[in-house]
Amino acid sequence: MNIDPKTPVVDFLFLFLFVSSCCFLGRCCYAIDTIRSEQSIRDIRGETLISQDDIFELGFFSPPNSTLRYVGIWYHKIDGEQTVVWVANRDVPISDRNGVLRIGNDGNLEVLDGNNTIVWTSNASVPSSNTAAILLGTGNFVLSSNESIGHTTKAYWQSFDHPTDTYLPEMRVLMSIVKGENHALRSWKSASDPSPGNFSIGVDPFGAPQIVIWNQTRRMWRSGQWNGVVFTGVPNVSSFASFLYGFRLSEPEADGSMYFTYTPPNASDLVRFRMGWDGKEEQLRWDDGLKSWTVVQSEPVSDCDLYNFCGNFGVCDITKIPKCSCPQGFRPKFQDQWNRGNWSGGCERRTELQCKRNASDAGCNSEQDGFKGLRCMKLPDFANRVTPGNSETCRGKCLANCSCNAYADVTTIGCLIWTGDLIDVQNLDKAGHLMFLRLPRSELGSGKKISNLVIAIIVLAGVFFLCITIWLLWRCKRKMKSEIRNSIPTFYGSNGNEFSADLSGSTELVVDGSQVNGPELPLFNFNFKCVAAATNNFSEENKLGQGGFGPVYKGELPTSQQIAVKRLEVAGRSGQGSEEFKNEIILIAKLQHRNLVRLLGCCIQGEEKLLIYEYMPNKSLDYFLFDQTKQALLDWGKRFAIIEGIARGLLYLHRDSRLRIIHRDLKSGNILLDEEMNPKISDFGMARIFGCNQYEANTVRVVGT
Ligand SMILES: *[C@@H]1O[C@H](CO)[C@@H](O)[C@H](O)[C@H]1NC(C)=O
Ligand SMILES: *[C@@H]1O[C@H](CO)[C@@H](O)[C@H](O)[C@H]1NC(C)=O
Ligand SMILES: *[C@@H]1O[C@H](CO)[C@@H](O)[C@H](O)[C@H]1NC(C)=O
Ligand SMILES: *[C@@H]1O[C@H](CO)[C@@H](O)[C@H](O)[C@H]1NC(C)=O
Ligand SMILES: *[C@@H]1O[C@H](CO)[C@@H](O)[C@H](O)[C@H]1NC(C)=O
Ligand SMILES: *[C@@H]1O[C@H](CO)[C@@H](O)[C@H](O)[C@H]1NC(C)=O
Repeated sequence: MNIDPKTPVVDFLFLFLFVSSCCFLGRCCYAIDTIRSEQSIRDIRGETLISQDDIFELGFFSPPNSTLRYVGIWYHKIDGEQTVVWVANRDVPISDRNGVLRIGNDGNLEVLDGNNTIVWTSNASVPSSNTAAILLGTGNFVLSSNESIGHTTKAYWQSFDHPTDTYLPEMRVLMSIVKGENHALRSWKSASDPSPGNFSIGVDPFGAPQIVIWNQTRRMWRSGQWNGVVFTGVPNVSSFASFLYGFRLSEPEADGSMYFTYTPPNASDLVRFRMGWDGKEEQLRWDDGLKSWTVVQSEPVSDCDLYNFCGNFGVCDITKIPKCSCPQGFRPKFQDQWNRGNWSGGCERRTELQCKRNASDAGCNSEQDGFKGLRCMKLPDFANRVTPGNSETCRGKCLANCSCNAYADVTTIGCLIWTGDLIDVQNLDKAGHLMFLRLPRSELGSGKKISNLVIAIIVLAGVFFLCITIWLLWRCKRKMKSEIRNSIPTFYGSNGNEFSADLSGSTELVVDGSQVNGPELPLFNFNFKCVAAATNNFSEENKLGQGGFGPVYKGELPTSQQIAVKRLEVAGRSGQGSEEFKNEIILIAKLQHRNLVRLLGCCIQGEEKLLIYEYMPNKSLDYFLFDQTKQALLDWGKRFAIIEGIARGLLYLHRDSRLRIIHRDLKSGNILLDEEMNPKISDFGMARIFGCNQYEANTVRVVGT
């Protein structure tokens, strides 16, 4: 071989420079995220892996107040106390600093102590020894073949599949009916001992899946059934509502396995869930400002969250004193203990269910058991999910099995029935579901009497208030009417009755089944002659534009008030006109809002039908929008104000007015502008009234734009 004699020297120099610059930069030397075969991480040299975006670090550490060494992953990015999220050799610590993490001969990760004894291995089936492991920005430590490094789907082994006490976003928690309960995370033994402690948290897949905290094998807390969006037993406290909604359940895979994942509302947040060694599960978020972890949510919080705090059939309600009570038809099983505040004994039925009694002594077999609805319940544990289920079949399914004590029909879950004792029931304030408790007829009866009395009282009170309201309204209206009469007496025509008679005829407008017609419309009838005079006998120069049902004129009353007059085409010429005319009068007369155009009155004389509005000096919005030069007059501030005004008007129509009105012909030509460019919605000819609680309707006529 022909080697240039200078090459080794140059190479050596380069290497030296490289190494020294690295060590000069300190951290840079070890700021690698991958370990390959033949490489190792030695505790004695303080070597670590750091994930690409500097968030996580992997290496040897000692817990607080301990000198034992463990391999673990912690946050590199944050200042302050070391926050460990994963530990490899949690059972077998190394007593000195001679530990080594490396990729072994078989391609698996292994941790060796000073005597070269393997204390921990990833122990995966690895097809080839040419492997590498990478610490990802998610906190996942992934072992895969050298070529597919970083591919979590091609991983031979990954730390996310073997979590310790911490859940990190993007970790997947298995939910499989075949494999049963999954105690996914297990707490440390104590703050300074990472070995597995008494508490674990994971998924109970049976019935409808739930998250459960166990103290060894005893349940200590549960989340309530998963309904596809949230866990139904967790009170919906607004301060962490957004964090409640981050959970997802994946689609079932071929073997029926599904996975829970959690995504924080803000992807840039550092968020973790931790099963504490003290039995508290906490969700923590790193607060960059405070430089500390803040607890977003924690379980269990109150006594009622403790599993089955009130015993079987007992109901816990944190807002009541005492917290525990027995539902209707039940009594404490051990009255003495119960009175002393030892509720663990729970409740029992006062009367046996009908189906359990002897057929002979029952005598009245027809008296089937009934159900009592309990609202806002954290549904009991150990539900049987019955499919298919709707409310009726669900009740039937429960009645058919004598050991069924309750059922619930939950929208996204389906029919749930409970065939054993009702365990861990809680009355939640703003969450939970309606549950039907099975009771013999005799126990339901007394309840019914009470509820009848309550209903009677409510009805009486309702009628009383209705009367008062009607009386007040009537007074109010009379007062308004007399005020209006006093203000413009000149223009109040004498034939007001004719106008009302016209409207009381058949109209298609119906609100809650009763017709809207107005003998008492707060409107006045203008005199036709007077209007004609005000508009200069409907002259061409006074014409403002042409609406759908006739021309619009500008006019000025003798009081020098400016008005706009809409003159409906004579019925013969415009077949649609009169229907829309009535519609518009009725609607607009009842509507009062600063963003709706105000109707001053109307005029009906023979064939002539006129509507008199307040005058809008700035015409309509289309006049500005579609004119090259006028466009410039509308700056963004004005446009925003106009949009806001229109939205307010619509909100009033749709939500805040006494009638629910859909305009159905909203366009820029129907947005009028007053002298201060305030928008006002006009032209209610095509509007439609909805009932108070009506959100949908079918229409047969095609209208509007
Ligand atoms: C490795 O896994 C096998 C089964 O997969 C098990 O029998 C063996 O005990 C494990 N070894 C260690 C050191 O965990
Ligand atoms: C864990 O359980 C054991 C045995 O029941 C008990 O001695 C120990 O105190 C418990 N530890 C904690 C932290 O509760
Ligand atoms: C997400 O968090 C970052 C940093 O804390 C913050 O700047 C950003 O505004 C947040 N985004 C949202 C939608 O809250
Ligand atoms: C509470 O009541 C249960 C059932 O009556 C009893 O077994 C238990 O010993 C009581 N506990 C205490 C602390 O009194
Ligand atoms: C049913 O009646 C028979 C005879 O009267 C009695 O021996 C039996 O104990 C009763 N069973 C129940 C469940 O009450
Ligand atoms: C009632 O439910 C129990 C518990 O699920 C079950 O063992 C029993 O077979 C059921 N009985 C009937 C008649 O379906």
